[in-house]
Amino acid sequence: MSDWLAACDQGDRRAVRALVRSLDPTGSLEFAATADAARRMVFESAPGELGVVVGPLSGGVSEVNLAAAVAQDGNARCVVLARGGATGSLRSRAERAGVDLVADLDGVLPAEARAESDGGRRSAEPPLLRAARSAPALVGDVSERAPVIVFCSGRGGVGKTSVVAMAAATAASWGMRVCAIDLDLSCGNLYSCFGLGNGVDLARVVGQAGGESMSRELPGALADPGVQVLGPCELPEAAELVAPYAGELLSHASVEFDLVLVDTSACFTDAVAQAAQLADRLVLVCDGRPGATSSLARTSGLAARLGVERTRMVRLENGVSPRARRDEVRAPAGEGLEAARTQRVLDGGTEVPDLLGSGQVCELVGSASPFAESVATLVAQILSELGGLPECEEAERALSGAAPRRRSLFGGRWGAR
Ligand SMILES: Nc1ncnc2c1ncn2[C@@H]1O[C@H](COP(=O)(O)OP(=O)(O)OP(=O)(O)O)[C@@H](O)[C@H]1O
Ligand SMILES: [Mg+2]
Repeated sequence: MSDWLAACDQGDRRAVRALVRSLDPTGSLEFAATADAARRMVFESAPGELGVVVGPLSGGVSEVNLAAAVAQDGNARCVVLARGGATGSLRSRAERAGVDLVADLDGVLPAEARAESDGGRRSAEPPLLRAARSAPALVGDVSERAPVIVFCSGRGGVGKTSVVAMAAATAASWGMRVCAIDLDLSCGNLYSCFGLGNGVDLARVVGQAGGESMSRELPGALADPGVQVLGPCELPEAAELVAPYAGELLSHASVEFDLVLVDTSACFTDAVAQAAQLADRLVLVCDGRPGATSSLARTSGLAARLGVERTRMVRLENGVSPRARRDEVRAPAGEGLEAARTQRVLDGGTEVPDLLGSGQVCELVGSASPFAESVATLVAQILSELGGLPECEEAERALSGAAPRRRSLFGGRWGAR
């Protein structure tokens, strides 16, 4: 008889017990009160003494990260990651992290018994929330991978694409390798801000165009030195095929680049929900048009229900008049945003649509445009909070809100690389 320790949600204990029984009919099982307690107990046990089951866990540390940490600690006899509906990508990530087995809990108990054991929680959950919860976690914290910053909004035309393009070009000018991903899968136009004729087809990137699996090296045209733009789908109808891979794509990019910026569609699709859930910072963009308050409130409420803590949310007012007072806030906060920071991007006038519309975002970098300066400050502040501000004079200047060293708008490229 061997000993097992499990860390899982209270409502899943019955299913985990059944799983352990199926793996080791004579084994004894104990449940740890918390994820931390489980890791400590395994760490303090004799090598090989405990088999460990991790998951399902909602809130706090993700199952796959905890399972990877326990496997890395090296004391466990074996590590089993227990999930409902484990995807192929989760399995391969778990395998890479040293997890011995990924067990699908859906097959362990009959469906009605599971619904009963978790109080019907899962079956009552709307599909959008379910899709987001099954998104793979990002591996490690931002000291080990690139920060992922996702921009979304409850309505169209508020400036998400413009801000993402500007943020990407700015961070690249600070020497960062930036991946800008367009999750407006059917209709996105992020690529056009960089002067590219079309986007890199995400259906190909995630292996849904030709049956191949996601490439280890992300392809893509380098829009300008330092920025790789991915997306949207070449065929709008492929969006549905790509959406389930959004989380995996972001995870992948976060280990290959220094910064991952995500543009989204105005409506909250499955892909957007996954991105929101994974984001290190979810930037909720609004403008000053009538109705901005209610759409912001709806979006922040949805993000909160997706499990995005308010510390991860940033509220961004775009198109603010350069003459507005600093403390003037246009829209009151919505659910989940009460304590979130409010950032501003200033109105850059017609120069912004003119330059972005003709693919010249890089021409705006380091210019005297209030739009460019305020986006640089936004990016610098978020990177600084996440501990990822590059050591570069221009980034430091942007952080302090100071104007960049001037160069003429249509002058040469930036120099700090
Ligand atoms: N701060 C700004 N100053 C001036 N113009 C701006 C600013 N932000 C955005 N714009 C302009 O507003 C228009 C809408 O912006 P954009 O396409 O980025 O919005 P979006 O939220 O991505 O829209 P959609 O939801 O349709 O994708 C564009 O013409 C853009 O150039
Ligand atoms: Mg857009």
